[in-house]
Amino acid sequence: MITPLPRDASSQDKRRHYQETLKIIQHLIAEERDWITILSTVCCELHQRFDYFHWTGFYRVVEPALMKAGPYQGGHGCLTIPFHRGVCGAAATTHETQLVEDVNTFTDHIACSSTTQSEIVVPVLNKENAVIAVLDVDSDLPAAFDQTDKEQLEYLATMLKEKAPLL
Ligand code: SME
Repeated sequence: MITPLPRDASSQDKRRHYQETLKIIQHLIAEERDWITILSTVCCELHQRFDYFHWTGFYRVVEPALMKAGPYQGGHGCLTIPFHRGVCGAAATTHETQLVEDVNTFTDHIACSSTTQSEIVVPVLNKENAVIAVLDVDSDLPAAFDQTDKEQLEYLATMLKEKAPLL
């Protein structure tokens, strides 16, 4: 039985929980080569283990400057995101994590759910340092994500870099 990390966990408990989660993910995908299977496994584990993750998923680069949804967990997300749109597009374009405490302050935020209040989007690069996907996590809580989430999800993105396909 997985006990999800509560929103009000201490920074130390959050870091420890991430380390446990990433170790489990590393074990689960160690021998896996199928990219979609890897992404599906990552979403599943993250979504179940963090109580404040209300939408957890990937947008994959399917052609220059265009992303498509999935795999993901949570309510249905928008299917297509061009690089010039949304928080995901900003992460894909800048190769920088977007940590958004209040989505209402982010120009051109794409609201897949009216209940989303905060969001973090981390770019996933391949070995050629091309963006191959973004990891998008939404929360219905305000300012749900902090530097620990950023640091740990960026570490997860480096774990995926080794397995990411070339464009
Ligand atoms: N909020 C994202 C779109 C994806 S839905 O949140 C799942 C954005 O602004 O890019």
